[in-house]
Amino acid sequence: MQTAFITGISEGIGAALALHYASQDVRVLGVSRRPFPAALADALAAEDYARIDLCASDAALKVRAFLDDRRVYGLDVLVHNAAVGWYGPLSDQCAESIDQLLYLNLYAPVSLTHALLPRLRAARGVIAFVSSVHSALPTPDFAVYTATKAGLDGFARSLRVEERGRVDVLVVWPGPTRTRMHLKSGVPSQRIRSDRYASPEVVAAAIATAIRRRRSHVIGFNNRLLRWAALHFEALIQRAMIALAKRRSMHRTEEA
Ligand SMILES: NC(=O)c1ccc[n+]([C@@H]2O[C@H](COP(=O)([O-])OP(=O)(O)OC[C@H]3O[C@@H](n4cnc5c(N)ncnc54)[C@H](OP(=O)(O)O)[C@@H]3O)[C@@H](O)[C@H]2O)c1
Repeated sequence: MQTAFITGISEGIGAALALHYASQDVRVLGVSRRPFPAALADALAAEDYARIDLCASDAALKVRAFLDDRRVYGLDVLVHNAAVGWYGPLSDQCAESIDQLLYLNLYAPVSLTHALLPRLRAARGVIAFVSSVHSALPTPDFAVYTATKAGLDGFARSLRVEERGRVDVLVVWPGPTRTRMHLKSGVPSQRIRSDRYASPEVVAAAIATAIRRRRSHVIGFNNRLLRWAALHFEALIQRAMIALAKRRSMHRTEEA
């Protein structure tokens, strides 16, 4: 039986991925901060769930101790999924929020990878970083969030080469997904177009497929197109986004 460790498992894409893996007979272990959610009872045993704040400086040590307690010395899959967002211009963001994003979205995956690498090597496993299609795009009002995701992309790019032949390292880039993340990040409800977003179940299935194939993957055709354009026509996309931002702020001034 394969073993997968997932961060940010209590809701959203992480919970959907846990349920997906459980349906494939994969043993799932995971962390989040809240008490064991009843919705996960079909995915994993309560003792395979740990309440750990990944922003804490000793989080990686706690995760290692948690896996030692369960005698999990080999990991087939490690999914860095936990993240938070923050919506608004940088000048309005408080220092604590910047710290939280950098810590949870970027520092924690790097330090956890470092702490768990021997277990992944032991199983010749896969590390998957959940990034975002926006990591390659200018995304006003999400500057710190997109910076953390671009950081993950860069870390994975180098680690993949370092670990070749021992551990496969991949990145998945979802686009907007129907979870509570936007609301929690402070995105105004009129800007959340849930009906147009992918379901967490579809995104989770795509992540599992990318991991099975051991290949990075942009989830969704439109997102693939967007990322391709962002990587090949950076200056053009930047100009288009500036024009869009100008139009939006003119619109806001007219409304005020
Ligand atoms: N939703 C989207 O549109 C979208 C698009 C592209 C990429 N993504 C990426 O997909 C991943 C999952 O996003 P999602 O939409 O599923 O988010 P979500 O629904 O908000 O879930 C986030 C998960 O992270 C956990 N978490 C938050 N802070 C934590 C902390 N300090 N320590 C441990 N766990 C913590 C939360 O659990 P607790 O609150 O219980 O700790 C929760 O289980 C993220 O990496 C996100 O950047 C999402």
